[in-house]
Amino acid sequence: MRGLLVLVTLASFATAQHQALIDYLERRLLAIEDRISVWHEQTNRYASELRELKQQMVSQLENLDKEKETLRLNLDGVGTRVDRVERELDYLETQNGAQPCVDVDDKLIEQQVTQVNEKNKAKYEKMSDCRHMISSIKAMKILKRVGGPKGMWTKDTGSASGKVYILNGTDEDTIHEFASVQDLARSPGTSLAKQVTLPSAWRGTGHVVYNGNVYYVKQAGEVMVVKFDLNNSSATDSAVFPVQDHIPVYGLSTETPMDLAVDEEGLWAIYSTRQNDRYISMAKMDANTLDIEQMWDTTCPRENAEAAFVICGTLYVVYNTKQPGRSRVQCVFDVNEMVTSEEAPLVYFPKRYGSHSSLKYNPQERLLYAWDDGYQILYKLDMKKKLEI
Ligand SMILES: *[C@@H]1O[C@H](CO)[C@@H](O)[C@H](O)[C@H]1NC(C)=O
Ligand SMILES: *[C@@H]1O[C@H](CO)[C@@H](O)[C@H](O)[C@H]1NC(C)=O
Ligand SMILES: *[C@@H]1O[C@H](CO)[C@@H](O)[C@H](O)[C@H]1NC(C)=O
Repeated sequence: MRGLLVLVTLASFATAQHQALIDYLERRLLAIEDRISVWHEQTNRYASELRELKQQMVSQLENLDKEKETLRLNLDGVGTRVDRVERELDYLETQNGAQPCVDVDDKLIEQQVTQVNEKNKAKYEKMSDCRHMISSIKAMKILKRVGGPKGMWTKDTGSASGKVYILNGTDEDTIHEFASVQDLARSPGTSLAKQVTLPSAWRGTGHVVYNGNVYYVKQAGEVMVVKFDLNNSSATDSAVFPVQDHIPVYGLSTETPMDLAVDEEGLWAIYSTRQNDRYISMAKMDANTLDIEQMWDTTCPRENAEAAFVICGTLYVVYNTKQPGRSRVQCVFDVNEMVTSEEAPLVYFPKRYGSHSSLKYNPQERLLYAWDDGYQILYKLDMKKKLEI
């Protein structure tokens, strides 16, 4: 009986011990399971928090992107508006004679050569020796705002008539002719102008008026130069420009298939072709017959070029940026090989003008007639002698 009791006690002790162990193990297991479920919960929470965060970040980034875009657009808009306001102010300043900070030469208009007198003639002949190059832009004057964003204006180069011409737009056929720069300046809009209608529409802004003729560029498949006599209002000649695969001559002014220029030596064509599409080419033309006398592939890139002009046989290419900034002459090409780009000064145009849709040089006055967003601007050039070899 006692033995049994011991046995039972032992057994129950063993059972109790065993039970305790099991209990212990169970508690640990529970604790672990608890922790695991907590981890699970936490992991889930972390995961969902992470997902939420990611979503938030993504949507915030999207918003940021959108906001950045709006901000950029706003900034662009503001920039353009500031440019416009600046130009309006400059224009008003030149109209009112007040000129606090712009280097405006008020004598520009008065100095216009309406009569080539003996003194000027002597000067002109000296210039046609053509040993001059630009050293800087001395002064500017915003004369007027008439017309759309793109266009061209010029005085009749090479003649003493003093007449001024406005070729507004890039696909029109009607020229506004003013008797003088003063007439243009005081004309409400184009009301003081005589209208001259051409036999066909021009293309781009690459035209010149030279010795009573307008030479305009026309594109009907091929690129043509048409010579139109302004005295008797008739087209007297036209010629297909003898290169194949024309591409717009300047990278930034895609509506102009070819540009024309007049300098001390006569008429020039500035063009680009698909075969040599990274650089600008030029040709000397006979102003009477429209024959090509000689052609050159220049070392001036097309990319970011907005306009060009020729002085004494040297091509000056003006560059800008797609978002219009400050225009500058950054490449020159001298057909007489007396000036290289390295020697030529980097010429910046005054202030931050938008972009020039045309720049026309007048050899007698040493002025550039520029068209910028509908504004007619005159730049007065300072010259120096080309380096002697
Ligand atoms: C100039 O051309 C623009 C279109 O390019 C036109 O809206 C505007 O009326 C024209 N202005 C004049 C004065 O011809
Ligand atoms: C313009 O034409 C008239 C005749 O219509 C002529 O008398 C005059 O000499 C011409 N002027 C020029 C510059 O060619
Ligand atoms: C206009 O003048 C040119 C020469 O300048 C002449 O060849 C042409 O025949 C003239 N046209 C008319 C219609 O008089």
